[in-house]
Amino acid sequence: MNILVAGGAGYIGSHVCKMLNERGYNVIVLDNLSNGHREFAKYGKFIPGDISDKKLLDIIFEHYNIAAVMHFCAYIEVGESVINPYKYYENNVSNTLVLLNSMLKHNVNKFIFSSTAAVYGMPEKIPIKEDAPKNPINPYGKSKYMVEEILDDFDKAYNLKSIRFRYFNAAGADESGEIGEAHNPETHLIPLILDAALGKRESIKIFGTDYETKDGTCIRDFVHVNDLANAHIKGLEYLLKENKTDCFNLGSGNGYSVREVIEKVKEITNIDFKVEEVERRPGDPAYLIADNQKAKKILSWEPKYSLDDIIKTAWTWHKERYNGRTR
Ligand code: UFG
Repeated sequence: MNILVAGGAGYIGSHVCKMLNERGYNVIVLDNLSNGHREFAKYGKFIPGDISDKKLLDIIFEHYNIAAVMHFCAYIEVGESVINPYKYYENNVSNTLVLLNSMLKHNVNKFIFSSTAAVYGMPEKIPIKEDAPKNPINPYGKSKYMVEEILDDFDKAYNLKSIRFRYFNAAGADESGEIGEAHNPETHLIPLILDAALGKRESIKIFGTDYETKDGTCIRDFVHVNDLANAHIKGLEYLLKENKTDCFNLGSGNGYSVREVIEKVKEITNIDFKVEEVERRPGDPAYLIADNQKAKKILSWEPKYSLDDIIKTAWTWHKERYNGRTR
């Protein structure tokens, strides 16, 4: 069965491609490599290109009998989205519309979409359920929520069935050490802490120590990238079998503070490094923890990796990358 993975050369997309490939699906990766890595796109056929390229999409859909499309190509930096919203609305919304329209043109009606916990904005209740209010507070979160709304309308009007996965804090790497998190610039907590452990940066800065949490730092729900990948396989199976549109939170259901994560990295790597306490970063909610019961119940999804596993696998990947073995 052919699955088109748009953004399959990126962090989460490549892990999903690897798992799809292992489970016997035929993977076709479409990626413009703006943020993806050519060497990550090795679990299927790689087609360089953009989801906004209508002609290329025509060729792909005509050539391959695509059963479903998974869509991972989005800009993801919250801060940048505030400074340059056009970039976010153009790629994350407008280009997604081109892809969706091409699917409709070629009678492909199954779609899996990478959404985010950012659709909830500053949550009123923790843990967060899927039906909690959606109040995204930055263009990144808004762009994702707009696509979610479009997908609802496309189901009603065109019978396009979709699964939207709202990721919490994706982290960790595949055990093989072949692929992992490599953003440029990196803004995410765990890779930045590991860079401090490797001496690639002078210190790790804690953004805010005066939150109303147990140790004053923000609490996040870290979920291993292979748990996310597994959810995509389950979502695909659900879509193929049940043919129903739905949305699911993907998080472990556990919260760890920024300070706890730093301490855990020190313990696992056995390396001490400098920690600086600085001002809050604008727009950070104190708590982000998923209520993942819906995915457990409907998709029989169970996250398997602990925070220790996340840090250990990320550490293996980061060390290898640093030593130049994976470029
Ligand atoms: N943090 C630091 N120092 C750093 C980097 C991060 O203290 O150098 C803190 C942040 O302030 C935050 C926590 O670590 O409290 C996690 O930050 P990340 O940037 O790793 O992740 P976010 O929680 O900001 O991002 C996640 C998802 C986004 C989503 C967002 C919603 O990755 O896709 O939640 O708020 F938009």
